Amino acid sequence: MTINEILNVREKLLADLDAVIGAEELEAFKLAHLTRKGTIAAMFDDLRSVSKEEKPLAGKELNLLRQSVEARFADKEQSLGTSKRTDAHRIDLTMPARTVPVSSPGHEHPLMKTLNEMISIFERMGFGVEYGPEIEDDEHNFGKLNFPADHPARDMQDTFFVKPSAGWKGTESAPLLLRTHTSPVQIRLMEKQKPPIRSIMPGRVYRNEAASARSAVAFFQLEGLVIDKGVTMADLKGVLLSFARQFFGSDAKIRLRPSFFPFTEPSAEVDVSCYICGGKGCRVCKNSGWLEILGSGMVHPNVLSNSGIDPEIYTGYAFGLGIDRTAMMRYGVSDIRDFFENDYRFLEQF
Ligand code: PHE
Repeated sequence: MTINEILNVREKLLADLDAVIGAEELEAFKLAHLTRKGTIAAMFDDLRSVSKEEKPLAGKELNLLRQSVEARFADKEQSLGTSKRTDAHRIDLTMPARTVPVSSPGHEHPLMKTLNEMISIFERMGFGVEYGPEIEDDEHNFGKLNFPADHPARDMQDTFFVKPSAGWKGTESAPLLLRTHTSPVQIRLMEKQKPPIRSIMPGRVYRNEAASARSAVAFFQLEGLVIDKGVTMADLKGVLLSFARQFFGSDAKIRLRPSFFPFTEPSAEVDVSCYICGGKGCRVCKNSGWLEILGSGMVHPNVLSNSGIDPEIYTGYAFGLGIDRTAMMRYGVSDIRDFFENDYRFLEQF
């Protein structure tokens, strides 16, 4: 093989390509020249027979040949409308449809499963179930819950505000927002019902946060509220311990750590002993032996009087539990977003 031969082949192949008028002919060209057994590949094999002096130049010319033929081929493919890219957009009506396996018909979502289990535990302990709106007003979400006017949670950074549409005739006081917790349902309940009160209030809440494996923009909480004469912190602790034993297992323990919420005084964060290692320390509890599950406390006297209940006569406790986090611990789910993606392969496991 000489340099001249290479140049001649190049001329010929380009001319042949220009003469191609149909897809079949183009495919035949590809088979004859551009595959691993085609002309061009054979010429590369033939480089071995070229003399030492001519080899660098021959190699260079061969590369040029391949590049120019491939480029011209791609142009031709485009102009004939047979390129892979166009094919990919064609719909193949003969393709079998994706099916849902019959062995696994629809079932509860893992979050709803967790929630329903919690509801039935609290129902057995004499709690009723109440619901409130997801679009709330400032008064219920913050004001009557004793949040000061300049509290950082009221910031746009944490709260999604809602602009009422032109025809809106609601009675709520502006500004409107997506509730950031289920605690406003406490206020709504106290406004419509005199003590004794003993209810849980589950529902979806919203926070304007960056989504990550541990926090989602929307998630679920379960609020609890008990108001009566002579209710104490010991009652709170007893109910939560009983819940933990029923939900996590009969040897579950809880611990209360001092905390702060504007609407409870005193306030406590509650941890449950790690259900994986039983408190010895493992990856799930980051070696602490404890998992944080809820915020709680004695209802602040201001909150009672803001809702028309006399704090001199009644006391009560409240708690707010994160349903998603609890479900993640329970089922060993490491990314909260998995719950909302509706991937059948994920959901099927529960
Ligand atoms: N609302 C609080 C939160 O979202 C939780 C809470 C509820 C704390 C009730 C105390 C009492 O973080």
